[in-house]
Amino acid sequence: MNTWKQTELMRRLDLSLPLVQGPFGGGLSAAELAAAVSEAGGLGSFGVHHLDAAGIAATAAAIRQRTARPFALNLWIPFEGSDAASADDAQFAAWLAPLQPYFDELGVAPPQRPARYSPAYAEQVEAVLAARPAVFSFVYGIPSADILARCRDLGIFTLGAATTPDEAVALEQAGVDGVVASGFEAGGHRVSFLRPAEESLTGTLALVPQVADAVRVPVVAAGGIADGRGIAAVLALGAQAAQIGTGFLACRESGTSDLHRRALLGPQARDTGLTRAFSGRLARGIRNRFMRELAAQPVAPYPQQNWLTARLRPAATAQGRADLMSLWCGQSAPLLATPDAPEATFPAAADYIARLMRETAAAVQRLENGVRFTSPKG
Ligand SMILES: Cc1cc2nc3c(=O)[nH]c(=O)nc-3n(C[C@H](O)[C@H](O)[C@H](O)COP(=O)(O)O)c2cc1C
Repeated sequence: MNTWKQTELMRRLDLSLPLVQGPFGGGLSAAELAAAVSEAGGLGSFGVHHLDAAGIAATAAAIRQRTARPFALNLWIPFEGSDAASADDAQFAAWLAPLQPYFDELGVAPPQRPARYSPAYAEQVEAVLAARPAVFSFVYGIPSADILARCRDLGIFTLGAATTPDEAVALEQAGVDGVVASGFEAGGHRVSFLRPAEESLTGTLALVPQVADAVRVPVVAAGGIADGRGIAAVLALGAQAAQIGTGFLACRESGTSDLHRRALLGPQARDTGLTRAFSGRLARGIRNRFMRELAAQPVAPYPQQNWLTARLRPAATAQGRADLMSLWCGQSAPLLATPDAPEATFPAAADYIARLMRETAAAVQRLENGVRFTSPKG
């Protein structure tokens, strides 16, 4: 009887479903999506790492216009020195050179060196604290002790991502309230911070129980979950909620383009890979021409490569050039298409959540009944 809908994390965050919508950076989050998930009883999230303080305040207001339920704002913690716009013109030209043919092909003028590549983290954190979301989630590290103490004082639950049990322990020891265990099936960036991402590639099935054994704080499982069987599985592994990214990115309320959504629901989503080509950091997306060609080229570091390829994305999207844009996608995408939802039909988040909860209940029931597991699609 729905006992799987009663986790400690749900109680602490006042959720009615053990479900977190994974935040998306780079402008792919949407207030409509976060609010729809929170309204349904899960935790909606919004990735704000590309926004300045004013943008973060406006985002929180836009979500609050649509829901009074709890939601999360999400930031990337900068690595030491990585955000400095230190490179000179010669270095900038060297980073731009491998991308010049793509600017030419899309008819886009190559960009000038910017004063900054990304908003200042210190200002972003102040804006998140001022917005007072129910949850401050973050990746690529641990906020300072001072920031974590201020979150505690403000009643903001902190949720940090781990790609290894060691990272989970480091988060807990710093006083972070909950841990997202992110398996390598996940779409988007590999958010490792203790060891190189390439050396931190553990799958969700192995990672979640190890993290659940290593820490006492609640664990959220992420990576490879897109249907109710996945949710039931990670709850059995010791997670208190499932975080779904790719599945919600394909929903009509997400901030991405229909071109990207179609790719997520189409046959090309069966072939994903890890690449540094788009941002300078390792991330999972659908293997396309840009990814293949850049594999043989030098790639600028983050955030410079991210900033440069972001200048290509609007033109690629407008011209329908899925071969030249980042198509972030996890390994679970082929689970999304159903017989009653043809490829071009983008689900509403509320309908997707209803499907997830039906399937989770059925999966738990089948385990309890000892009945042979059958596909929820059949
Ligand atoms: C396009 C995209 C952007 C993402 N951006 C962020 C981000 O900024 N911060 C973050 O914590 N997670 C980010 N993620 C990870 C998701 O929040 C989520 O943990 C992940 O997608 C779960 O795995 P799944 O894709 O297999 O469902 C992103 C994922 C995708 C697909």
